[in-house]
Amino acid sequence: MARSGVVSVIGAGFYGSTTALRLAEYDIFEKVVLTDILEGKAEGLALDMNQSRGIEGFETLVVGQTTTADGAGYEVIAGSDVVVITAGLPRKPGMSRMDLIEVNAKIVRSVAEQIAKHAPNAVVIVVSNPLDEMTALTQLATGFVKHKVIGQAGMLDTARFTYFVAEALNVPVGSVQTLTLGSHGDTMVPVPSRCLVNGKPLSELLSAEKIDELVTRTRNGGAEIVALLKTGSAYYAPSAAAARMAKAVIEDSKTVMPVCAWVDGEYGISGVYLGVEAKIGRNGIEQVVETQLTANEKADLLVAAEAVRSKQADVQSL
Ligand code: LAC
Repeated sequence: MARSGVVSVIGAGFYGSTTALRLAEYDIFEKVVLTDILEGKAEGLALDMNQSRGIEGFETLVVGQTTTADGAGYEVIAGSDVVVITAGLPRKPGMSRMDLIEVNAKIVRSVAEQIAKHAPNAVVIVVSNPLDEMTALTQLATGFVKHKVIGQAGMLDTARFTYFVAEALNVPVGSVQTLTLGSHGDTMVPVPSRCLVNGKPLSELLSAEKIDELVTRTRNGGAEIVALLKTGSAYYAPSAAAARMAKAVIEDSKTVMPVCAWVDGEYGISGVYLGVEAKIGRNGIEQVVETQLTANEKADLLVAAEAVRSKQADVQSL
């Protein structure tokens, strides 16, 4: 099998390391690079992952590299086709994603500058929180064209919604299609009108109250897990989402996925990174795809856009 492309994952916490392993196990990349500022952590995890190759049967090489605050070690990401930024702190119980904005802005900005220097042709996938703002900041700090910087959130939020619907109806997740748009935060917009179960509208299968309950649970999906874990945030579903996006880029699949993308006129919204459906390919966002929304869903999306816009303006100075 021909393997091609290099994908780098910045940050070897649970999110980053799980993403790196998923990417390596796809067995489609020539190399997966994992970096971290904790001395030896990325190297150790990469060695461990490489030792799993004989059992799991994948040939993608995993390379681990310690990096320093002044940028030493970042040469390792040279030639990357895709870079996933997971660096930054996760939430603690009771925190909102927005509480991380100042501390994570500093981290993400310095990582973005290193990406611009060493991997100027990469498509960048951002997962650090607060997601929509860190995506905007990454575009500013790299200076990359907007379609080459994408945030991961909609895939995750949609997967959570799908799971909650499947659980409520006791059906396979594969028979459920859902969608969430908007921000990866308080103004997330789950879109019940786009939810189908075996092709049937969700509204024919569940009461409006039950749907509202699942929508609320989806909006709070990350916080529910943070409260249970007590230290750190979710990483299995988040890493699955980020890895699928990187796969879509390298395979130039043109798959339509809910992601955080630069919106320029769609839904009457312009000039903001926002959760929308978009076609993902070798150049990142190939096209933002507008979907039919109810009047309420559309209104919620406009609220999300303005909420994110004001915060994204703040990150310029962080
Ligand atoms: C979550 C974090 C990763 O939603 O934002 O779990």
